[in-house]
Amino acid sequence: MAKIPFSEITPEHIYLNRRKFMVGAGSAASLAVLAACVGSPSAPAADSDAAEQTTAATTPPVSDLPPELANDAPAAGATTDELGDPLNTYEEITNYNNYYEFTTNKQTVAKKAKDFEPFPWQVEVTGLVDKPTTFSFEDLVTQFPHEERIYRLRCVEAWSMVIPWVGFPISMLLEAVQPTSEAKFVKFTTVERPEQMPGQRSRTLDWPYVEGLRLDEAMHPLAIFATGMYGKLLTAQNGAPIRMVVPWKYGFKSIKSIVKIELTDVMPTSAWMAAAPNEYGFYANVNPNVDHPRWSQGSERRIGESRRRPTLMFNGYEDEVAYLYEGMDLTKNF
Ligand code: MTE
Repeated sequence: MAKIPFSEITPEHIYLNRRKFMVGAGSAASLAVLAACVGSPSAPAADSDAAEQTTAATTPPVSDLPPELANDAPAAGATTDELGDPLNTYEEITNYNNYYEFTTNKQTVAKKAKDFEPFPWQVEVTGLVDKPTTFSFEDLVTQFPHEERIYRLRCVEAWSMVIPWVGFPISMLLEAVQPTSEAKFVKFTTVERPEQMPGQRSRTLDWPYVEGLRLDEAMHPLAIFATGMYGKLLTAQNGAPIRMVVPWKYGFKSIKSIVKIELTDVMPTSAWMAAAPNEYGFYANVNPNVDHPRWSQGSERRIGESRRRPTLMFNGYEDEVAYLYEGMDLTKNF
């Protein structure tokens, strides 16, 4: 039977319907990963699944989706982060969003993003690299081993969540395209689709949304591309089909729905730097000692909690990332 390309991935409710009928177990490795999950990894459907034939032509073979992304119900490998704080619920993470391409109202992003079509999808990787490559979504999930990463997401607006992402280190993709010795920065760009993204029809920001990292930051093992969350493909409101997650930086650095990645020798100007250079710097490391001009960064509200909690240096990842900024004045390089 011919392999069905990921470019024909159907909306979630259709393939979930199909997957309801699937039984079986994944590899021993995937079972271990999912040991604590509420969902079960799925095997490819039997060909005799006649009732489902109408959707089969447009449904990816489940064997192509890493089991870490193929759960029926939201599933995570642990109930807390490494500090012992509980995960936010799937409902919280998918209903309180910042995604200005849809709307500036956090509670209605999910609704406004309903008709966004994440498939087919391509990411162009270009600039100062020896092997410029355009990856399809299928390439990304099959070439790069996926794993769960439970991270705190700290928004510059002083709220936070604990989120079980599924993805792979940015370094893996960069190693595949081989940056040249001149490459110093990585620039990331979000898709521009005003017809599907109502917020892009007004000039809230200078579209497309752009973000950047220093190359050594992008190569850090904690910096990932996420394609999923809670054991399922990303929802549109969370940045489907692929977004960045850099947990020691304010959430706005974690750019969603990426279509272009460019290696460069000049520091990229992010969408937020361009909009308000005195408020948003290039680094945007979580730092309780450097306040935003309009609010304190010393504490934050975890979504689902009423009390405020102290904000941790580098969002609690200081031991892992502080060396990247040694000798830098973090009040100037904010
Ligand atoms: N990426 C794009 N393209 N557009 C956005 O408006 N918002 C950022 C970031 N990535 C944003 C974006 C901000 S401010 C935050 S806090 C996080 O996404 C929120 O991610 P979440 O909605 O998945 O929690």
